[in-house]
This record gives sequence, structure tokens and C-alpha cells, in this order.
Amino acid sequence: MPVPPSERDVTIRLVVNDRAHQLDVDAGETLLGTLRERLGLTGPKEACWEGECGACTVLVDGGPVASCILAAGSTSGRVVRTVEGLAGAAELTTLQQAFVRHAAVQCGFCTPGVLMVLTALLDDVPEPTETDIRQALAGNICRCTGYQQIVEAALDAAASVQP
Ligand code: FES
Ligand code: FES
Repeated sequence: MPVPPSERDVTIRLVVNDRAHQLDVDAGETLLGTLRERLGLTGPKEACWEGECGACTVLVDGGPVASCILAAGSTSGRVVRTVEGLAGAAELTTLQQAFVRHAAVQCGFCTPGVLMVLTALLDDVPEPTETDIRQALAGNICRCTGYQQIVEAALDAAASVQP
């Protein structure tokens, strides 16, 4: 049941996936909760709720953060991107296409967080080494792939956008 506005504590204004929102959030509410329950963005996954697994990772002002341990009330004025905001209406990003080619998605539970971390890495380091990629993924747990396909996809994506 929706919480009456009078029981909420903080009004925030933020941009999520290029759309501006003004929201009344509860004190103690996490950004993950806001994204999933108020905005219907269920790409970021709920798992450990302790900042340990990376399943909930989103970009805040371009940098990856664990949204399960970030207070929604602290995000006013910030720009948030979730996995839903990566692809355009017509096609997947270069990285997402590489994930498909390399079978880097198996159960898919870790994939939204992994994609956000690697998107931020490729923005900062257009030609990452395998070590760069594995270090970037240090906070993202994948129980299915052994990471090899994910690393290969990231290297392929980086190569695909080089002149
Ligand atoms: S659910 Fe946020 S890091 Fe695990
Ligand atoms: S694909 Fe299943 S946890 Fe990563």
C-alpha cells in the first residue's frame, strides 16, 4: 500500500535515465528501493543489501555505486542511470551486443550491475586491459560465468569502438 505523503520525510529531485523526477521518500529509504518500488526500474537487483555483491549497481553522476547502501535522500540533484537507461529504443549498446556475442549472460542476475560497472570503465578507460576489467569487476559477484565470457565481451566492446 502506498505510504501517505505525510509519513515521508524527504523531497528529492533527481534525473533517472534522462527523465526528471520529484519524489517524496522515507528517511532511511535506499536508492535501490526508490528505483524499484517508486519508479518501477527493476533492472538493479536486490541481493545482499550490504554493498557486497554488486547486483544493485547503478551509475550516479557517471560513477558506479551500490544503490542498496545509498540513501535516496542523499541523491537530490544527482543524475542516475540504470541498466534500463543504457540502450536506445532501437538497439543495444556496443557492450550489450558484445555480451550477447560472448554468452556473457547466463542466469542474468548479476548482469545489470556488471553492465553498469563496465560501462563506467569503458567511459573512463576506452582501451582497458584484462587486468583493468577484472579489477573493475572486483565488487560484482557472478556465480555462473566464471567471468571469462564477461571479460572477453568487455575487451571485444572496447575493440569495437576503437577507430
Ligand atoms: S544488493 Fe547491493 S551490493 Fe548486493
Ligand atoms: S550470469 Fe548468473 S550470476 Fe552472473
